[in-house]
Amino acid sequence: MFAPPPNGLSYSDIRLQLKAMYGGYWLTNLANASAFLVNALPGLNWAGFYLMRGGRLELGPFQGLPACLYIPLNKGVCGAAASRRETMVVDDVHAFPGHIACDERSRSEIVVPLLRKGRLLGVLDLDAPVVARFGEVDRLGLEGLVADLVAASEWPTEF
Ligand code: SME
Repeated sequence: MFAPPPNGLSYSDIRLQLKAMYGGYWLTNLANASAFLVNALPGLNWAGFYLMRGGRLELGPFQGLPACLYIPLNKGVCGAAASRRETMVVDDVHAFPGHIACDERSRSEIVVPLLRKGRLLGVLDLDAPVVARFGEVDRLGLEGLVADLVAASEWPTEF
C-alpha cells in the first residue's frame, strides 16, 4: 500500500509523509512511525517506542531486534530522557553510565520524550551502530515529529 520511503529523506519530508499516514489510533500511529523511521533514516539498527506503564517504561511498537521489556526511570538513556523530560543525544553509549545494551551493535542513541499537556506518555528511541550518528538536526527534526505524533493520536488514560 505504501511505497518504501527513500532512505535519507529530510525531516520536513518525513514529517509530511507521516502526518498524511496517521489515523486517530495511537497504537497504529506508533507502529507506522517506527516502521517509517527505520526505513527513511539511514544507518539505524533500532527504532521504536517505550510507553509509561506502571511507573516504568515498557516496550511498545518498534523495528529491530527484540528488546528489553521494562526500563526503570533511573536507568539507561531512555530512563534519563523520561525522568528529565528532555531529549538525550548520546554519542557513545559505552561511555554512558547505566546504558542498557539491548542490541550490542548500538553505539549511539537519541531518545525523545512524548509529552502531552504535562503527561509523559513514553519515549521515542533510535539506535545506530556508529558513534555520533545523531546531532542537532536529528534532535530538532525528531522533537517536531514527536509533537505531530502526539497531536494526531488519541491517547488512552493509561496503557
Ligand atoms: N539502550 C536503551 C535501551 C533500549 S534499547 O536501545 C532498544 C537505553 O539505554 O535506555
